[in-house]
Amino acid sequence: MTRLDELPINKKVITHLKNLGIIDLFPPQEEAFNTGVLEGKNLVLAIPTSSGKTLVAEVCMLKAILDGRGKALYLVPLKSLAREKYNDFKKYESLGITVAMSVGDYDSPGTKMREADILILTTERADSLVRHKSDWIEEIGIIIVDEIHLVNDSTRGPTLEMVLAKLMQMAKAQIVALSATISNADEIASWLEADLVKSTWRPVPLSEGVYLDGEIDFFEDSLFEKRSVRFVPRKRKEELADIVCDTLDENGQVLLFVSSRKSTVSMAKRLVSSIRQYLTNESISRLLGIAKKIGNTPSTPEASRLLSKLVADGIAFHHAGLDNKERMLVEDAFKDNLLKVVVATPTLAAGVNLPARRVIIRDYRRFDQNRGSYPIPILEYKQMAGRAGRPKYDKYGEAVLFARTESEKDALIDHYTLSDPEEIYSRLASPAALQFHLLASIAAELTNTSNEIDGLISNTFYACQNEQSTIAHHILSALSFLENGKLIEIASSSRYSATPLGKRASQLYIDPQTAILFRDALSQYEDHTLFGILHLICHSPDQPVTYVSRSETEEYEILVDDYAKELMIEQPDIGDEKYSEFLGEVKTARILSDWISEATEKDITESYNVGMGDVHRFVQSAEWLVYSASEIARITNNPKHIPSLKSINSRLKYGVREDILELVNLRGIGRVRGRMLYNQGLKTLVDLYNIPLNELARIPTIGTSIAESIKKQLGVKVKSSDTTHSSIIDESEEDFDSIQTLLDDFT
Ligand SMILES: Nc1ncnc2c1ncn2[C@@H]1O[C@H](COP(=O)(O)OP(=O)(O)OP(=O)(O)O)[C@@H](O)[C@H]1O
Ligand SMILES: [Mg+2]
Repeated sequence: MTRLDELPINKKVITHLKNLGIIDLFPPQEEAFNTGVLEGKNLVLAIPTSSGKTLVAEVCMLKAILDGRGKALYLVPLKSLAREKYNDFKKYESLGITVAMSVGDYDSPGTKMREADILILTTERADSLVRHKSDWIEEIGIIIVDEIHLVNDSTRGPTLEMVLAKLMQMAKAQIVALSATISNADEIASWLEADLVKSTWRPVPLSEGVYLDGEIDFFEDSLFEKRSVRFVPRKRKEELADIVCDTLDENGQVLLFVSSRKSTVSMAKRLVSSIRQYLTNESISRLLGIAKKIGNTPSTPEASRLLSKLVADGIAFHHAGLDNKERMLVEDAFKDNLLKVVVATPTLAAGVNLPARRVIIRDYRRFDQNRGSYPIPILEYKQMAGRAGRPKYDKYGEAVLFARTESEKDALIDHYTLSDPEEIYSRLASPAALQFHLLASIAAELTNTSNEIDGLISNTFYACQNEQSTIAHHILSALSFLENGKLIEIASSSRYSATPLGKRASQLYIDPQTAILFRDALSQYEDHTLFGILHLICHSPDQPVTYVSRSETEEYEILVDDYAKELMIEQPDIGDEKYSEFLGEVKTARILSDWISEATEKDITESYNVGMGDVHRFVQSAEWLVYSASEIARITNNPKHIPSLKSINSRLKYGVREDILELVNLRGIGRVRGRMLYNQGLKTLVDLYNIPLNELARIPTIGTSIAESIKKQLGVKVKSSDTTHSSIIDESEEDFDSIQTLLDDFT
């Protein structure tokens, strides 16, 4: 069997793939299908970037579903990747196959997980569902693990390993794992008892090279003896602009990786003047439309205005501080060949298909507080390089590292261009990871004895790489941590069981340390202040926080004194290694406090020097943690804290003061319209019920459609003036940006 036509699968699937332009299988895909994977055998596919791993996964999923072996689970490491796969797989709905995605803030509407044939989840979401022991887990027939080499990631790797270990116990499903080319892919295969397909074949040739002084020294594919030099004449002030324009001159697009958010912005600004000449009139007008969607009104945060301005000129920056909407607009405009250049941090590197003919990696060093500056792993370099030359977009690709001296160039060629990625290894033996995951498996009654714990651990990559005994003492100390923290109980017969608190903590998907922190603080204090709670949340290991820059330090040191009485934890001494972290917590708590005092996103992002994406992340996580705190207060018999925690939770959700909580519960009413109504004297639902419809409609930011919707929600019969109104309202629901834009139109 070699050809697409000969695949033993429903012909409709084959026709479907052909209609999408897949004419024949790539050689590693053929090799994969020859392993028995279509009959249900496990497979590890470790082949280069862009060699079509997803297609193999797709065909295996469809085969399993159509053969009645069960539903398919597709695990991804990133929400953005989930979105790309969801949009990709939706095409199978015409074959009667339902697709759903659940990652938290991007959940697909409509299709419930239980009903979906293909379910796309981030690893963390899958872990959380496993904890709830959803009954459909048994119906899983096949699990696809995308980017499985990320077991090597110290923070998220253990979750991936444990989810798979648990699913192996619970579902008995087939596993198809997709991996970058790593040197010990055979170990992953032996862990998963899978066949291994390894290859260096790439559908689109990728030349990797290093730039120095007007020349790029290129090495073609893995044929390292094939060397060529590309001259890049120096014409512009900015050397990087020459390397970028060298590709734009030939109608290609460029992705430029730098190490920090700040550099993405400054680099995009420095390049913008060189880009304009490459834009057509048509693309300029479409770019202007996108720039407008990003926003350029007085209420738009400075960073977004800058992004909007740059986008209009054909270049964008991309980093985790962007909010979801901005990120999608940038990625889509790049895919549509409107943006010529995107300057990004490496978060963009994993798995996504982008039309970059040339990827430039300016920074191969990264800074970490604990490690200082260090060179990135080869695997990460290869992932970034692999964004260039994707089959859908280009006939060839180029990845270019940027050297400043001859010796640096030689070192880069040697270390990155000509080297294979390093081996990967399990990160499970970390105290925090074991505490978190052992509590989960005890709470879900997957493992209640030492033997059962050993059984679960034996399913992990760790056990495959190490003598299991080497992890024994880590397990014992994690168990005693959980027992001391009263999250589990150990009966004399050595049976482990979770306490009610342990069970709830596991279901809430919070770190055991967070559960202990919340319980202790809420039991110790009779009462709390708003800031005290917000800081407590920020002190927990589950809350992302910002940092205090050197120039802000003094300001925060002084501020901390004002808050000292409200804090629910002991404040570290100045000079203590935890002190700067503590200031970051205080700063983040202030951001949250401003958010629920109705400060605008513009004011928050500008006063605290954070991105809108950050604000959304802080708020979303805090909302969950405040809810978790109220649950912990309930379970640990501290009901006095609950009403206030519930109110803070709702305030975080809507970003409002307490007085308009009643109003924002209405669909279509967010913080801006809510405040507007309140200021007009409409302070309660009764007021809204009583006011005549036409008067309500005349209030700025409201209008007829919203007014009608409010009345309907209050049970008043209204004759709808236009049937499309309800959909308009659904779109604006909780959509602060669009409401903000509306307000701008009024003022
Ligand atoms: N047989 C084929 N013929 C033509 N195009 C194909 C074929 N198989 C896959 N492709 C296309 O190749 C592109 C890259 O595929 P895919 O995203 O699966 O890469 P990948 O192997 O997962 O890479 P990465 O490691 O970067 O995630 C996609 O646009 C896909 O549609
Ligand atoms: Mg992929």
